Amino acid sequence: MPIAGAKASPTQIWNRSCLLGLGRLTPDEIRAVLRTAAAWDRGREDHPLAGQVICNLFAEDSTRTRTSFTIAARQLGADVVEGASQGSSLSKGESLVDTARTIQAMGAGIFIVRSRQTGGAHAVARATGAAVINAGDGCHEHPTQGLLDCYSLCKALGAAHPRRFDEFDLAGVRIVIVGDVARSRVARSATWGMQALGARVTLCGPGSAAPPSLGRALGCDTTHDLDSALGEADAVMALRIQKERGGMGAVGCLREYRALYALTAERAARMKPRAVIMHPGPTNRGVEIDPEVADGPRSIILDQVAAGVPVRMAVMELCVGASLAP
Ligand code: CP
Repeated sequence: MPIAGAKASPTQIWNRSCLLGLGRLTPDEIRAVLRTAAAWDRGREDHPLAGQVICNLFAEDSTRTRTSFTIAARQLGADVVEGASQGSSLSKGESLVDTARTIQAMGAGIFIVRSRQTGGAHAVARATGAAVINAGDGCHEHPTQGLLDCYSLCKALGAAHPRRFDEFDLAGVRIVIVGDVARSRVARSATWGMQALGARVTLCGPGSAAPPSLGRALGCDTTHDLDSALGEADAVMALRIQKERGGMGAVGCLREYRALYALTAERAARMKPRAVIMHPGPTNRGVEIDPEVADGPRSIILDQVAAGVPVRMAVMELCVGASLAP
């Protein structure tokens, strides 16, 4: 029984065994994950998932997400198996769902699912009833990326305003997400997450890469004019062109795209003094972001990567805890 007036603990707030998207999470649920991540970041050393088997079910390539889930799972004490890596029977026509059920029969209880199709993780969750974490489904959502983006942004801005990190509060913060937004699952999840914490998000890109209809669906502004939006932003997140999802057709001529939307040193110099530059990766240097900006003093790109471990530890701990609760 919580003490009257005391702040509810993350496990009192979180009762989901799956994380499939951020669109339906409450601000309290998002803060429950971020508070749990902060505890891991500060050096918690227990192993709450000892004895659990976690299956990486990645039917699409990944460096950051798969590696950080593996490191996070091992730090939690779990065993990790690769369920859909090169050489799996997916290449023989077995479905993602049948692959998950097969590996579940061997004892895996948690699935980290990346799929080319929207709803891949949802399908695995329905079929297995297991704890399932969406590691990216088509153009739809990438919720742990959105959470780690929130975490790293709060941490970066917290240097000047400690409350931003202590309470995961982005009230009044302005973020521009620029690039091939329409095909980006990261943009959707980051927008849901950051807005839930109080930020104002503006989507930016050419014509069909940042359509006003998407802004309306996500409850945020859109613009085609990066240079006007830049000066007001506390953070700018660049996105790569999603070539594998037809992004080249949406951005048109690459030279014109770079002229209007690339994060160049000249554009970075016009940002507010403490404003930061983000990118979920993988970066295409010389296309959406220049090397001196990706490696420059405003960049928190590697901090985003590092945040992936504690944030994914938090998500797995909370989802598995909820799945095991009586
Ligand atoms: N940000 C992201 O999802 O990167 P990976 O594709 O390398 O996992």
